Amino acid sequence: MDFETLRSTCLTCRRCPLAETRTQVVFGVGPTDAEVLFVGEGPGQQEDLTGEPFVGPAGHLLDDMLSIIGMGRHNCYITNIVKCRPPQNRDPLDGEQTACMPFLRQQTKLLRPKIIVCLGRIAAMRLIKPDFKITQEHGQWFEKGDILFYAIYHPSALLRDLTKRPDTFRDLKKLRAKVLELSADPARYDIP
Ligand code: URA
Repeated sequence: MDFETLRSTCLTCRRCPLAETRTQVVFGVGPTDAEVLFVGEGPGQQEDLTGEPFVGPAGHLLDDMLSIIGMGRHNCYITNIVKCRPPQNRDPLDGEQTACMPFLRQQTKLLRPKIIVCLGRIAAMRLIKPDFKITQEHGQWFEKGDILFYAIYHPSALLRDLTKRPDTFRDLKKLRAKVLELSADPARYDIP
Protein backbone atom coordinates (compact mmCIF):
# COMPACT_ATOMS: atom_id res chain seq x y z
CA MET A 1 0.00 0.00 0.00
CA ASP A 2 1.31 3.50 -0.78
CA PHE A 3 1.03 6.57 1.43
CA GLU A 4 -1.87 8.13 -0.49
CA THR A 5 -3.94 4.93 -0.37
CA LEU A 6 -3.22 4.63 3.34
CA ARG A 7 -4.24 8.24 3.91
CA SER A 8 -7.53 7.89 2.03
CA THR A 9 -8.37 4.65 3.87
CA CYS A 10 -7.66 6.38 7.18
CA LEU A 11 -9.76 9.43 6.28
CA THR A 12 -12.90 7.29 5.97
CA CYS A 13 -12.16 5.00 8.95
CA ARG A 14 -15.04 3.97 11.22
CA ARG A 15 -13.22 1.31 13.24
CA CYS A 16 -13.92 2.88 16.64
CA PRO A 17 -16.50 5.18 18.29
CA LEU A 18 -14.26 8.28 17.87
CA ALA A 19 -15.51 8.32 14.27
CA GLU A 20 -18.94 9.39 15.58
CA THR A 21 -17.69 12.55 17.30
CA ARG A 22 -14.76 13.69 15.13
CA THR A 23 -14.93 16.57 12.67
CA GLN A 24 -11.85 15.53 10.67
CA VAL A 25 -9.43 12.64 10.77
CA VAL A 26 -5.88 13.86 11.51
CA PHE A 27 -3.64 11.54 9.52
CA GLY A 28 -0.25 13.22 9.87
CA VAL A 29 2.04 15.70 8.19
CA GLY A 30 5.57 15.77 6.82
CA PRO A 31 7.73 14.37 4.03
CA THR A 32 7.33 10.66 3.35
CA ASP A 33 11.10 10.18 3.43
CA ALA A 34 11.41 11.65 6.95
CA GLU A 35 14.11 10.09 9.12
CA VAL A 36 12.45 11.16 12.35
CA LEU A 37 8.84 10.41 13.29
CA PHE A 38 7.16 12.28 16.17
CA VAL A 39 4.09 10.64 17.72
CA GLY A 40 1.66 12.43 20.03
CA GLU A 41 -1.40 10.97 21.69
CA GLY A 42 -4.39 12.23 19.73
CA PRO A 43 -5.84 15.34 18.08
CA GLY A 44 -7.22 18.17 20.20
CA GLN A 45 -9.90 20.68 19.23
CA GLN A 46 -7.89 22.74 16.73
CA GLU A 47 -6.50 19.60 15.11
CA ASP A 48 -10.02 18.12 14.82
CA LEU A 49 -11.20 21.29 13.08
CA THR A 50 -8.25 21.64 10.68
CA GLY A 51 -7.19 18.03 10.04
CA GLU A 52 -3.54 18.93 10.93
CA PRO A 53 -1.64 17.54 13.92
CA PHE A 54 -0.30 19.87 16.60
CA VAL A 55 -1.74 23.20 15.46
CA GLY A 56 -3.23 24.33 18.81
CA PRO A 57 -1.30 25.79 21.77
CA ALA A 58 0.73 22.59 22.31
CA GLY A 59 1.50 22.57 18.61
CA HIS A 60 2.97 26.06 18.71
CA LEU A 61 5.27 24.97 21.49
CA LEU A 62 6.18 21.81 19.55
CA ASP A 63 7.12 23.98 16.54
CA ASP A 64 9.40 26.06 18.80
CA MET A 65 10.95 22.91 20.26
CA LEU A 66 11.59 21.49 16.79
CA SER A 67 13.10 24.70 15.50
CA ILE A 68 15.70 24.59 18.31
CA ILE A 69 17.01 21.36 16.76
CA GLY A 70 16.76 22.44 13.12
CA MET A 71 13.51 20.62 12.51
CA GLY A 72 10.05 21.45 11.39
CA ARG A 73 7.18 20.05 9.41
CA HIS A 74 9.39 20.15 6.28
CA ASN A 75 11.96 17.60 7.54
CA CYS A 76 10.22 15.31 10.02
CA TYR A 77 6.89 13.49 10.15
CA ILE A 78 4.32 14.26 12.86
CA THR A 79 1.33 12.12 13.75
CA ASN A 80 -0.56 10.67 16.73
CA ILE A 81 -1.44 7.28 18.24
CA VAL A 82 -5.13 7.92 17.52
CA LYS A 83 -6.12 9.88 14.44
CA CYS A 84 -9.46 11.17 15.77
CA ARG A 85 -10.10 13.52 18.68
CA PRO A 86 -11.16 11.91 21.96
CA PRO A 87 -14.12 13.90 23.36
CA GLN A 88 -13.10 16.61 25.86
CA ASN A 89 -9.45 15.74 25.08
CA ARG A 90 -9.53 12.74 27.41
CA ASP A 91 -6.80 10.11 27.06
CA PRO A 92 -7.53 7.75 24.19
CA LEU A 93 -8.97 4.46 25.52
CA ASP A 94 -7.05 1.26 25.08
CA GLY A 95 -9.58 -0.05 22.55
CA GLU A 96 -9.39 3.17 20.53
CA GLN A 97 -5.60 2.98 20.46
CA THR A 98 -5.70 -0.67 19.43
CA ALA A 99 -8.20 0.06 16.65
CA CYS A 100 -6.02 2.88 15.31
CA MET A 101 -2.55 1.32 15.63
CA PRO A 102 -2.61 -0.41 12.21
CA PHE A 103 -2.48 3.07 10.63
CA LEU A 104 0.61 4.08 12.61
CA ARG A 105 2.22 0.68 11.93
CA GLN A 106 1.66 1.13 8.21
CA GLN A 107 2.89 4.74 8.30
CA THR A 108 6.05 3.51 10.05
CA LYS A 109 6.53 0.72 7.53
CA LEU A 110 6.29 3.16 4.61
CA LEU A 111 8.38 5.95 6.20
CA ARG A 112 11.07 3.65 7.58
CA PRO A 113 12.22 6.28 10.13
CA LYS A 114 15.55 5.90 11.93
CA ILE A 115 14.15 7.51 15.09
CA ILE A 116 10.68 7.58 16.64
CA VAL A 117 10.11 10.26 19.26
CA CYS A 118 7.16 9.67 21.57
CA LEU A 119 5.57 12.90 22.74
CA GLY A 120 4.41 12.09 26.25
CA ARG A 121 3.44 9.13 28.33
CA ILE A 122 0.57 7.73 26.23
CA ALA A 123 2.69 7.34 23.08
CA ALA A 124 5.66 6.00 25.07
CA MET A 125 3.51 3.40 26.85
CA ARG A 126 2.09 2.24 23.53
CA LEU A 127 5.31 2.30 21.47
CA ILE A 128 8.15 1.66 23.94
CA LYS A 129 6.72 -0.40 26.82
CA PRO A 130 3.43 -0.54 28.74
CA ASP A 131 5.04 0.38 32.07
CA PHE A 132 6.99 3.36 30.67
CA LYS A 133 7.58 6.04 33.30
CA ILE A 134 7.92 9.39 31.57
CA THR A 135 9.38 11.17 34.61
CA GLN A 136 12.19 8.61 34.91
CA GLU A 137 12.71 7.44 31.34
CA HIS A 138 12.39 10.54 29.16
CA GLY A 139 15.59 11.23 27.23
CA GLN A 140 16.69 7.58 27.09
CA TRP A 141 17.19 5.52 23.95
CA PHE A 142 15.36 2.24 23.40
CA GLU A 143 16.37 0.11 20.44
CA LYS A 144 13.70 -2.04 18.78
CA GLY A 145 14.52 -3.74 15.50
CA ASP A 146 16.26 -1.14 13.37
CA ILE A 147 14.50 1.86 14.95
CA LEU A 148 15.63 3.94 17.95
CA PHE A 149 12.80 5.05 20.23
CA TYR A 150 12.96 8.07 22.50
CA ALA A 151 10.42 9.91 24.64
CA ILE A 152 10.18 13.51 25.75
CA TYR A 153 7.51 15.29 27.77
CA HIS A 154 4.37 16.15 25.84
CA PRO A 155 4.29 19.87 24.92
CA SER A 156 0.96 20.19 26.80
CA ALA A 157 2.76 19.04 29.96
CA LEU A 158 5.43 21.69 29.30
CA LEU A 159 2.72 24.36 29.00
CA ARG A 160 1.30 23.33 32.38
CA ASP A 161 4.58 22.74 34.22
CA LEU A 162 7.50 25.05 33.44
CA THR A 163 9.82 23.07 35.74
CA LYS A 164 9.90 20.27 33.14
CA ARG A 165 11.40 22.54 30.48
CA PRO A 166 15.11 22.34 31.40
CA ASP A 167 15.02 18.51 31.20
CA THR A 168 13.30 18.77 27.84
CA PHE A 169 15.91 21.18 26.54
CA ARG A 170 18.59 18.63 27.44
CA ASP A 171 16.56 15.85 25.81
CA LEU A 172 16.23 17.90 22.62
CA LYS A 173 19.98 18.53 22.44
CA LYS A 174 20.59 14.80 22.84
CA LEU A 175 18.07 14.11 20.10
CA ARG A 176 19.76 16.61 17.81
CA ALA A 177 23.14 14.90 18.29
CA LYS A 178 21.66 11.48 17.49
CA VAL A 179 19.84 12.77 14.42
CA LEU A 180 23.07 14.27 13.06
CA GLU A 181 24.96 11.05 13.83
CA LEU A 182 22.44 8.82 12.01
CA SER A 183 21.22 11.02 9.19
CA ALA A 184 22.03 10.06 5.62
CA ASP A 185 21.91 13.79 4.81
CA PRO A 186 22.60 16.02 7.84
CA ALA A 187 22.22 19.10 5.59
CA ARG A 188 18.45 18.61 5.62
CA TYR A 189 18.44 19.84 9.22
CA ASP A 190 19.10 23.54 9.60
CA ILE A 191 21.46 22.99 12.51
CA PRO A 192 24.08 25.64 13.21
N1 URA B 1 -1.84 16.83 21.36
C1 URA B 1 -1.49 15.68 20.73
O1 URA B 1 -1.08 14.71 21.35
N2 URA B 1 -1.60 15.66 19.42
C2 URA B 1 -2.03 16.69 18.68
O2 URA B 1 -2.08 16.56 17.46
C3 URA B 1 -2.37 17.88 19.36
C4 URA B 1 -2.27 17.92 20.70
